[in-house]
Amino acid sequence: MTAQLIDGLALSRLWRTRLTERVAALRARGVQPGLAVILVGDDPASQVYVRNKVKACHEVGIHSVLETHPADLSEDALLARVRALNTDPAIHGILVQLPLPRHLDAHRVIETIAPEKDVDGFHVANAGALMVGQPGFWPCTPHGCMKMLEHIGVDLRGKHAVVIGRSNIVGKPMALMLLQANATVTICHSATADLAHHTRQADVIVAAVGRPRMLTADMVKPGAIVIDVGINRDANGKLCGDVDFDAVREVAGWITPVPGGVGPMTITMLLANTVDAAERATA
Ligand code: GUN
Repeated sequence: MTAQLIDGLALSRLWRTRLTERVAALRARGVQPGLAVILVGDDPASQVYVRNKVKACHEVGIHSVLETHPADLSEDALLARVRALNTDPAIHGILVQLPLPRHLDAHRVIETIAPEKDVDGFHVANAGALMVGQPGFWPCTPHGCMKMLEHIGVDLRGKHAVVIGRSNIVGKPMALMLLQANATVTICHSATADLAHHTRQADVIVAAVGRPRMLTADMVKPGAIVIDVGINRDANGKLCGDVDFDAVREVAGWITPVPGGVGPMTITMLLANTVDAAERATA
């Protein structure tokens, strides 16, 4: 049996229609939601990502400011920019695109962003809020994955979810969100002894590794839900996820495609966080 597709593009369109309405309601009371995106250096992938974020803002009526800085920008200068945006009333969300050039301390930069404008959800105050189940901004990629799971109507209570990857941006917050939804969660990573042993028991697998097609069909229980966070190029330069899509779709119950799966939902959750930030700041 072939898995059903979880269409991230279609779900994004639904969300963006609703967000456009919320932006219109804010504007009607004189509030224009604003997002500042800071890009340091000329990493080509980051340039594509920030361009897509800015374009998506425009689509729903969020005012966006893209600040690009040369790769040799000093840390003091970057921190000064972040502090200025923290106190700028026209800006409700601040995003510093990662990775930063090596001479810049990403941790220090993120901690300088005001938590109430940290729409990436990377600040320790927001990470801590997620950890203890308090309101705060959730990181966009795992948040988008949760919305996809909600959309297909799966009740995660008592389900076994296996997250592959333990990054601060995806793996760790993903595990906490699944836990909050009452799943039993296993986090696997590069030092996991027998990855397939874990994934074969999973009702839900989230692959966030960054290795082309590493999750193969023999690692998936029939009927499982497979969420693919990876965006990779294979040896032939073809865009692909962490999941061997063509084979796994013959085993899984639900599967996200790459492209058109998690990617658009990540950007949509950034828009949602920015609208949330504007609503909270002006409530
Ligand atoms: N680099 C890769 N993903 C992200 C993200 O979600 N936010 C930021 N700021 N940088 C990233």
